[in-house]
Amino acid sequence: MGELREARSPLISAHEVDYTLDVAGRPLNILRKVSLEVAPSEVVAIVGPSGSGKTSLLMLLAGLEQAAGGKITVNGHDLGKLGEDDLARFRRKTLGIVFQSFHLIPSLTAIDNVGLALEIARPDLSMAEVRARAAKALEAVGLGSRLDHRPTALSGGEQQRVGLARAIVAEPKLLLADEPTGNLDQKTGKAIADLMFSITRDLGTALVMITHDPLLAARADRMLTMSQGELSENLVAG
Ligand SMILES: Nc1ncnc2c1ncn2[C@@H]1O[C@H](COP(=O)(O)OP(=O)(O)O)[C@@H](O)[C@H]1O
Ligand SMILES: [Mg+2]
Repeated sequence: MGELREARSPLISAHEVDYTLDVAGRPLNILRKVSLEVAPSEVVAIVGPSGSGKTSLLMLLAGLEQAAGGKITVNGHDLGKLGEDDLARFRRKTLGIVFQSFHLIPSLTAIDNVGLALEIARPDLSMAEVRARAAKALEAVGLGSRLDHRPTALSGGEQQRVGLARAIVAEPKLLLADEPTGNLDQKTGKAIADLMFSITRDLGTALVMITHDPLLAARADRMLTMSQGELSENLVAG
C-alpha cells in the first residue's frame, strides 16, 4: 500500500516557489511562482540564459537554500519543514550533485574522494565495503586504473568522471547536475553525458540537469526553460 503510493507520487513536487535574496538590504526576487514535478527515474533538462535562476532552483531542490514562498517536496520530505540536521540527512541519503567545476577535494585520491562521500551517506558500512563500492563506482565511470590519482593528476574529463562517481556511489534517488559538461570539450562532454544517462537509468535515479548544450537537453525526457525567474515547459512540436 505505502509502496504503491510511493511509486505513483512524484519524486519532486515544487509548487509556486518564490525565492528572494537580500542584496544590500533590498529584496531581490530571483524565482517567481516556479512549479515543477519530476517522476522517479525521470530525466529533466533545464535550459535558459545565464542569470535566469537555474542554479538557484537547483540549490532550493537540494535544500541548500530556503524558498521565500511556496512548497518543495522531495522524496516525501517537505523541505521547508526540515531543520538543519534533517536537511543534511536528506541530502546525504537522497541526493547526488554534479557541479560544472567538479569540486573534488585536492588532497584526496580519486577513491578517497568517492569513498568519503559514501562514508558520510552510509556510516553503517565498513571501511572495506566503502573502498570496494568506491572502486566499483570508479570502474563504472571508466577510471578503474586511476583509483590512486589525485585530482591534479587527472584531466578535466577524468575529474568529472570522479565527480559523477562521487555523486552516484550511494545510489541516490535524485541526481542534480549543474552544467556538468560546461567545462569540457564537446567530445569529453558527450562521454560524461553518456555515462550520466546510462548510470542513472541503471540505478533508476531521477536526473535534473541544467545545460546550455541543446544536444544534451534534447536527450532528456522533458525540457524546461527558465527565463527571468520563471520556469516553463517546452512543448516540442511533432
Ligand atoms: N549571492 C547572490 N547575491 C546576489 N545575487 C545573486 C546571488 N546569487 C545569485 N544571484 C542572482 O540571482 C540571479 C540568478 O542566478 P543563478 O541562479 O545563478 O542563475 P543561472 O544559474 O541561471 O545563471 C542572477 O541575477 C544572479 O545575479
Ligand atoms: Mg548557474
